[in-house]
Amino acid sequence: MLENKVIVVTGAANGIGKSIAELFRAEKAHVIGLDIERVDIEGVEYRQCDVSNFQEVERVFSSISEDHGAIHALINNAGISEFKSIWEVDEQEWDRVLDTNLKSVFICSREAARYMTEDVRSIVNMASTRAFMSEPNTETYSASKGGIYALTHSLAATLSERGIRVNAIAPGWIHTGSEELRKIDHEQHWSGRVGKGDDIARACLFLTDPRNSFITGECIKIDGGMTHKMIYEH
Ligand code: NAI
Repeated sequence: MLENKVIVVTGAANGIGKSIAELFRAEKAHVIGLDIERVDIEGVEYRQCDVSNFQEVERVFSSISEDHGAIHALINNAGISEFKSIWEVDEQEWDRVLDTNLKSVFICSREAARYMTEDVRSIVNMASTRAFMSEPNTETYSASKGGIYALTHSLAATLSERGIRVNAIAPGWIHTGSEELRKIDHEQHWSGRVGKGDDIARACLFLTDPRNSFITGECIKIDGGMTHKMIYEH
């Protein structure tokens, strides 16, 4: 179904983005990975791009369209998760997190939408369960992810006239590193395990599938049940 469709994945060099790029590649899509780091996945085209920079993003999407014609889907996955005490967050730090995580979703969506002139026409944004719940000292990241939640339904409204669907995924804890997890890390989830990149990649595929065209403006939490779990101490 996605054979030879042009799918752009941001932040495809590592972690969840890498899993997404690999899964769409396995579906025979033509996957283009945008990242500041080199994307090293067989069969995936790499284009270097700082997704927080308007000019770089405008240029990269224009060149993708020149080379491939229409863009069919965009997965806005790139992001940084760094947490600092509010007393240490300066203006530069605030701008860095908001620009990388939130501004990027706006500009990449707009530029991809210009070239979404054929079927599929889907955008998926990576939010976080931190858009809905918090630990202390997470203000910049949480604000960026809450912004993505709102931007998703706003873009879904605006881009509906072009037949473009816009959805979000709010992942919980997704283990992408090589460090050993503890038993308690898994057992505290109703799912009995911490999430993996593939859990998110499959949801991206589901939301991109044109058969699911009744879903737009939605945000799906994928977190092993953690945002529904009551944590009162008895
Ligand atoms: P990661 O750090 O493993 O990968 C992020 C990728 O984005 C990297 O390849 C990095 O080079 C790229 N990137 C960073 N800044 C960029 C920029 N300015 N331009 C282009 N590329 C840039 O992160 P991970 O864990 O795979 O997360 C992916 C997304 O999922 C992020 O948006 C993150 O906030 C979100 N998320 C992750 C969760 C987790 O538990 N891993 C939980 C909830 C959300």
